[in-house]
Amino acid sequence: MTTRIALDGMVALVTGGGGMIGGAIARRMAEGGAHVALADREAPTPAAQGRAYAADLSDAAQLRALVDRVLADFGRIDCLVTAAGITSTGAFENITAEEWDRVHAINLRGVFLANQAVIAPMKAAGFGRIVNIGSVLAKNGGNPRPWLDAGEQARAGNAAYGAAKAGVHAMTLYLAKELAVHGITVNAVAPGPIASPMTTSFPAALVRQIPAGRMGNADEVAGMVAWLCSRENAFVTGEIIDVNGGLWMD
Ligand SMILES: NC(=O)c1ccc[n+]([C@@H]2O[C@H](COP(=O)([O-])OP(=O)(O)OC[C@H]3O[C@@H](n4cnc5c(N)ncnc54)[C@H](O)[C@@H]3O)[C@@H](O)[C@H]2O)c1
Repeated sequence: MTTRIALDGMVALVTGGGGMIGGAIARRMAEGGAHVALADREAPTPAAQGRAYAADLSDAAQLRALVDRVLADFGRIDCLVTAAGITSTGAFENITAEEWDRVHAINLRGVFLANQAVIAPMKAAGFGRIVNIGSVLAKNGGNPRPWLDAGEQARAGNAAYGAAKAGVHAMTLYLAKELAVHGITVNAVAPGPIASPMTTSFPAALVRQIPAGRMGNADEVAGMVAWLCSRENAFVTGEIIDVNGGLWMD
């Protein structure tokens, strides 16, 4: 059972809304009374929890057009949650420049573009909540233990993914400082391994490293995101909040 977090009347744009975590966030926010716009490569269906939009969120023009459409449809954007992303696995020495760019295009550039696109309307409203989805992999050097099992890296996130997420964390801090005076909070939630299509091949041996003894579920991320978006939270900003069952503590 989950607790209802009051978001009555707020307008939320959730990127990656067709995914496991983005979908859970959209549902949770809708349950709290928010009007939700879900954006993904293909419009998420059925958009029971809100209105669905299709866009390649690594493309600056499509992102701007999306934000304009949401503003036209809803009148404002109170909350932006960036959950669109892709994974990348394998050893550092095998990451090609093309793979590096593919991951950064959506996992970092896409987040930058989305954050930038909502600044003007949020400033004009004197209110905003931005929550970026980061990762424990930005902090811990990756989960695999090559000294025990060289094969784990093949099925777990790599340095291209971790570096992009570290960029998201850093960007969050910069933007939080710039926007605090405008009534806008900017935070990141850094999940550990969450059961989703992204982690179906996650090694069981690595799950046993998680102090909670299991992978997380998307609702556990969604609850934290919803609270960060709430009006109740006006003073938590510039935080990277871990949701990882104790896998990494800092
Ligand atoms: N699952 C985990 O264990 C985990 C852990 C830490 C962080 N994360 C992060 O959480 C977020 C959501 O992950 P998830 O597990 O729900 O994965 P998911 O694959 O279920 O969802 C990701 C969504 O992003 C969308 N997307 C990807 N590239 C896009 C693009 N260019 N334009 C538009 N949409 C695009 C996909 O279509 C997909 O629906 C990601 O940023 C991921 O990096 C996930």
